[in-house]
Amino acid sequence: MVNTQEVVQDTRWIGGSDRRIALFENIFPLENGVSYNSYLVTDEKTVLFDTADIAVSDQFLENLQAALAGRKLDYLVVLHMEPDHCSQIRTVAALYPGLTLVGNAKTFTMMQQFFPETAALPRVEVKEGDTLSSGKHTYHFVMAPMVHWPEAMFAYDDATKALFSADAFGTFGALDAGIFADEVDFEKKYLDEARRYYANIVGKYGMQVQAVLKKAAGLDIAVICPLHGPVWRKDLAWFIDKYDKWSRYEPEDDGIVLIYGSLYGHTASAAALIAHRLEEKSGKTVRVFDVSKTHSSCLVGEIWKSGTVVLASPTYNNGIYLPMQALLHDLRALGLKNRKFALIENGTWAPVAGKLMREELAGLTGCTVVEETLTIKSALHETDSERVDAFVEAVTA
Ligand code: FEO
Repeated sequence: MVNTQEVVQDTRWIGGSDRRIALFENIFPLENGVSYNSYLVTDEKTVLFDTADIAVSDQFLENLQAALAGRKLDYLVVLHMEPDHCSQIRTVAALYPGLTLVGNAKTFTMMQQFFPETAALPRVEVKEGDTLSSGKHTYHFVMAPMVHWPEAMFAYDDATKALFSADAFGTFGALDAGIFADEVDFEKKYLDEARRYYANIVGKYGMQVQAVLKKAAGLDIAVICPLHGPVWRKDLAWFIDKYDKWSRYEPEDDGIVLIYGSLYGHTASAAALIAHRLEEKSGKTVRVFDVSKTHSSCLVGEIWKSGTVVLASPTYNNGIYLPMQALLHDLRALGLKNRKFALIENGTWAPVAGKLMREELAGLTGCTVVEETLTIKSALHETDSERVDAFVEAVTA
């Protein structure tokens, strides 16, 4: 059944939510699905901003047909060529002959790679600062390269002050009854997932996000229409500030996150004790996670939030415990910056995980590692109290 909602004058959300999806990009677990947003402006000409993922294609096409109410579709603006948004280009073009595609040079290169059969369709190629009018509405194109693909771009409608922001300002999580962020407790329901989405999908490209935020600051934006998650029409500054912090690699709070790996529970036990001691000493919240049980993308989100990160790893095959190694690989791949790390290693005969983790972290810009590594030989005991005290002191200093 048709399910569309008005966003702003002449503009309807016509997307869909997928709650059956287990893994976004076949990597990231989703507890509460994801939405694929698409927007239709019905002006003198009709303009569609992006299609949707194949998983919601039936809903999307039904919504599109209803929102057009018998009119033809004049333009399809492709802000992002990743398949979760472009999968229906061929179908839409087949259903609405005469459609003109709008994209930039990189958009059309990618479109040719994915869908060579679209080469013959009418197209308008735009670049930074170009505009397209549909009548009362004029769209200004803002290139957003590497947020998070090279062809990504924004469109700003000067009639409604709506910014169609591609993946930027998106979040994991299906949409419920409403599509607006102010209709839900966003901080409780979506913020962790928005941060996880940002850090894992876009996190590597902080510099590029900063560049596009500077361009967006010159626009009078009333509504942000991302391709995933809620639409923003209130408290925009609050969410833009989150994006600003995340893309400057600044922690959101001064909390401590402690992530441990443990084969038999001894490192887990030490981690629990040290978490308690750290919280007692610092007065800051300490969040504890088992690296084997919590997906790396969630840990990355937690690290993006926190100023101090304590990693506790057993030594395994004369190396770092594999799930911890995978997390460190992610942090390097995403280019995490500006955090304070502290290390705990365990090893029954030759503990080396601390030294190896320190080497992994050495490549992270602006990150410091507390000089004292707490070494555990198999298990922590009362006789280790002084060393634990010294470690807690060093982490909280
Ligand atoms: Fe939601 Fe980069 O695609």
